[in-house]
Amino acid sequence: MESLRISPKRVKVINVIVIVTSVVALANLRAAECRRARVSNSIEYNAISCRAHSASITDFGGVGDGRTSNTKAFQVAINKLSQYAKDGGSQLFVPAGKWLTGSFSLTSHFTLYLDKDAVLLASQDIKEWPVMKPLPSYGRGRDAAAGRYGSLIFGTNLTDVIITGDNGTIDGQGSFWWQNFHKGKLKYTRPYLIELMYSNNLQISNLTLLNSPNWNVHPVYSSNILVQGITIIAPVKSPNTDGINPDSCTNVKIQDCYIVSGDDCVAVKSGWDEYGIAYGMPTKQLIIRRLTCISPTSATIALGSEMSGGIEDVRAEDITAINTESGVRIKTAVGRGGYVKDIYVRRMTMHTMKWAFWITGNYGSHADKNFDPHALPVIQGINYRDMVADGVNVAARLEGISGDPFKEICISNVTIGMAPKAKKLAWTCTDVEGISSNVSPRACDLLRDQGPAKVTACAFPPDNLPIESVKLQKCSYRKSYM
Ligand SMILES: *[C@@H]1O[C@H](CO)[C@@H](O)[C@H](O)[C@H]1NC(C)=O
Ligand SMILES: *[C@@H]1O[C@H](CO)[C@@H](O)[C@H](O)[C@H]1NC(C)=O
Ligand SMILES: *[C@@H]1O[C@H](CO)[C@@H](O)[C@H](O)[C@H]1NC(C)=O
Ligand SMILES: *[C@@H]1O[C@H](CO)[C@@H](O)[C@H](O)[C@H]1NC(C)=O
Repeated sequence: MESLRISPKRVKVINVIVIVTSVVALANLRAAECRRARVSNSIEYNAISCRAHSASITDFGGVGDGRTSNTKAFQVAINKLSQYAKDGGSQLFVPAGKWLTGSFSLTSHFTLYLDKDAVLLASQDIKEWPVMKPLPSYGRGRDAAAGRYGSLIFGTNLTDVIITGDNGTIDGQGSFWWQNFHKGKLKYTRPYLIELMYSNNLQISNLTLLNSPNWNVHPVYSSNILVQGITIIAPVKSPNTDGINPDSCTNVKIQDCYIVSGDDCVAVKSGWDEYGIAYGMPTKQLIIRRLTCISPTSATIALGSEMSGGIEDVRAEDITAINTESGVRIKTAVGRGGYVKDIYVRRMTMHTMKWAFWITGNYGSHADKNFDPHALPVIQGINYRDMVADGVNVAARLEGISGDPFKEICISNVTIGMAPKAKKLAWTCTDVEGISSNVSPRACDLLRDQGPAKVTACAFPPDNLPIESVKLQKCSYRKSYM
């Protein structure tokens, strides 16, 4: 724009042209609408709810040039559309383009839809990121003791929220944040890409998330959550770019996701030390299904290390891990309190791993010095079955807490192919109790071998969690407003 010099006289001419073209454009639009209606140019997708009203970000002055800030356009659009919450709900459509924006907040009975070539670009202007209080169950920010930057897409105290698209993209442009984090220059914790708190009936589906400054998807203090068809990509050395982190949430389904990241692909959490114990809100009834994960420095599925509100009834199946540090990892410490119990994992395939299984009661990493040394975590009922791995360095490293053994660990029908340069000792176990059957290489003695007949020794619940009965509706909208 700066290079375009227009004389006043030419401006007038341009104005006239603009008016004329607007009239023509309007006529064309009408014609186009009819044409579109006839060729039924529409978008269709499956969702927990369809909306009666739909508008485009361009209706609110949005500019998809990759340089103009759209923070205000998004917030104005969503505030305006919030009036339809009790009148069938609303959808905000984001067409193809590069939509630069800072943090904005969603509303209830609302869908944010990113079209195929739509890219939300996270602003690198720190003024576009409001600062919020730390989460009550954490007591402080992860990066810094003070507050935290609001997430790119944020929502609190909402119901019935959908963030979806035809595999549209949200690009966190994280390198700016990673560099400042490494230099110790951040006063507050880096923002997440998507965070919904105190909310229920949520769907996050069919999107690609790139280069998040920090965690990618963070539902917290929420319930009835469907995360489906999400591709998450961040450099494998980027700091804390966890994929999906259900945190003090109930009734959650995560399925058909592909995640490459610098931290855990899925990290299940529920608050930190004395803050998490006081808040006391567990994550429970969680299904993770058909996940493919590449995470060379972290886990495919991590439980903890912040688990002070408890983690219970997690079911994971049909999981693929490639070049990942560990398959399932339970991380806890003295002072965490809480529990991790009734964990069921089956049909996991692992290629090139450091530890297939890692459980540690010695993770450390405390919120502050005020943690209670008597607050011991209960780790109980951990079931792993029907798994195959190859290229593994250490089959399992299972370390409970002295005086607080981790109990009822069951591993059955698991075949682990060791890497050519694997450690001599395939299993190391301390302060754990449980059983094993049909495990190769043979499990440590603390997991008492039940013999080959007990190949199905480890449980996997046959019943369905409530989230399985959520039915998706087919929603369709005309694109004519574009
Ligand atoms: C949101 O809900 C939480 C938990 O119920 C409550 O403490 C908080 O005050 C609510 N916030 C707003 C903005 O309504
Ligand atoms: C979505 O886009 C990502 C990134 O381009 C791609 O890797 C992935 O395969 C796409 N997913 C679908 C379902 O088209
Ligand atoms: C996601 O995309 C797939 C493939 O295009 C489609 O079949 C499915 O209905 C979509 N699902 C959701 C929940 O949006
Ligand atoms: C053992 O695990 C493999 C790999 O997942 C599976 O194909 C097989 O059916 C399992 N065997 C039994 C007896 O369940």
